Amino acid sequence: MGIDYNELAKKYDLSRKENMGTITRFLENQPFSEETNILDFGCGTGNFTCALKRMTDASVYGVEPADEMRQKAIGKNTGVSFEKGNHEKIPFIDSFFDFAYMTDVIHHVPDINAMFKELYRVLKQDSSLCIVTESHKQIESRFWVKYFPATVEVEKERYPDIPEIIESATINGFVFSKIEITDANHRHAIAQNFLMLVENKGYSMFHLISNEDYERGLADLRNDYDKQVEIEYRHGETFLWLKKPVKD
Ligand SMILES: C[S@@+](CC[C@H](N)C(=O)[O-])C[C@H]1O[C@@H](n2cnc3c(N)ncnc32)[C@H](O)[C@@H]1O
Repeated sequence: MGIDYNELAKKYDLSRKENMGTITRFLENQPFSEETNILDFGCGTGNFTCALKRMTDASVYGVEPADEMRQKAIGKNTGVSFEKGNHEKIPFIDSFFDFAYMTDVIHHVPDINAMFKELYRVLKQDSSLCIVTESHKQIESRFWVKYFPATVEVEKERYPDIPEIIESATINGFVFSKIEITDANHRHAIAQNFLMLVENKGYSMFHLISNEDYERGLADLRNDYDKQVEIEYRHGETFLWLKKPVKD
């Protein structure tokens, strides 16, 4: 079964919002001024896009293929420009952006070579691209694998692992800068927000496992939530930083 973001748009913002740690990381790594053009590729309902707009003087643009997601983003009225586009067509002129990023998008892109080619085209020389995703190791260590073990295989099938991403990026002209990993190490009871997210199938992987696996996992999760069982949280995200180099 494919993922229909026009359908998911109805409930997306009930359980998903921007991660301020991610925004802070962008701000720490990048100089932003009034002259800076930023691209949020696969911006969804614009949560990260709007947060960056609030926190910088830069011009922020979101590109998103799903009309319903984009309409939600536009409805936030934050002065961000949201355009229809995807990995094959980013509707901007060559060398327009000073910085581009994508959060939780790359596993939805059917052809990452085409995506890197198009991102290379719209980025300026000496600009950065940051891909926020999860490695296969991080997917295996997600705390909810205990409840939904079937998610591991479906996720590893659709998420390109980090070496594959780097290879595709470099074939298409980018240069590797660095990797930042945000793996955690703490224990606490399951948060109500997480239970709500699962009940709303707020992660697309819940649409990719069988209903039986989903219902069984949800029942076990509710049980542990009610008993306030402490869970070990370890996995985080991978920030892959790439550069479009200066040509001699
Ligand atoms: C999990 S959502 C993440 C949205 C947003 N980046 C965020 O973090 O809130 C994945 C987004 O990727 C978009 N997407 C799917 N296929 C895409 C493609 N080929 N090119 C660009 N974006 C795509 C979806 O429509 C969806 O909005």
